[in-house]
Amino acid sequence: MINIALPKGRLGDQVYTLFESAGYECPSIKENNRKLIFENEAAGVRYFWVKPSDVPIYVERGTADIGVAGKDILLEYEPDIYELLDLGLGKCRMAVAAPRGFYDSGERTLKVATKFSSIARRYYVGLGRDIDIIRLNGSIEIAPILGLSDVIVDIVETGTTLRENNLEVISTIVPISARLIANKAAFKFKTRQIEEIVSKLKGLVEQNDPNL
Ligand code: PRP
Repeated sequence: MINIALPKGRLGDQVYTLFESAGYECPSIKENNRKLIFENEAAGVRYFWVKPSDVPIYVERGTADIGVAGKDILLEYEPDIYELLDLGLGKCRMAVAAPRGFYDSGERTLKVATKFSSIARRYYVGLGRDIDIIRLNGSIEIAPILGLSDVIVDIVETGTTLRENNLEVISTIVPISARLIANKAAFKFKTRQIEEIVSKLKGLVEQNDPNL
């Protein structure tokens, strides 16, 4: 049995559909209920729905053999796992944004609001820029509007949230997408099953996006 941690939410639904198309279906998952664990013994899979940022925790600790997490979460928490495949889903970018027309003279410490403090810190260390990180848990976009910060480091997908709040991207830090990850010990002991999943998913992903 392969234990698979999926991120709850819209991305998770797309990821499950991909696994289903690869032959790892689990019909009970589509029943409208609030269960969090689903199993299909015949297909050899057990799925858990977990909070997206918790997927690497389940995988790193071996509760899940494999899982799917956004590259943003992997860069932020740097879990000790294997990253096996870019699934080409949940594409967006990590970016610095600020109120339209903002100019950083570089003369004083820059106040940066973000959920992704490690990513932000690493980015500004690379630039040699002094910053003060203000760690928030959501609705990051309002921080510069209310004067809590100068800029934000956040996920930009369509850009709508920025536009509707009079903010703009100043620079892109890194492109983001969903990645298939594996527990290191599980990868050693369940190599055949995991490799088979990877190769089936890879075939589908390449059909969807030949650039991957
Ligand atoms: C994410 C991100 C932005 C928004 C970007 O927020 O933090 O706010 O999506 O998407 P867009 O470019 O398509 O507008 P999320 O919905 O995850 O909520 P939260 O960060 O406020 O918790």
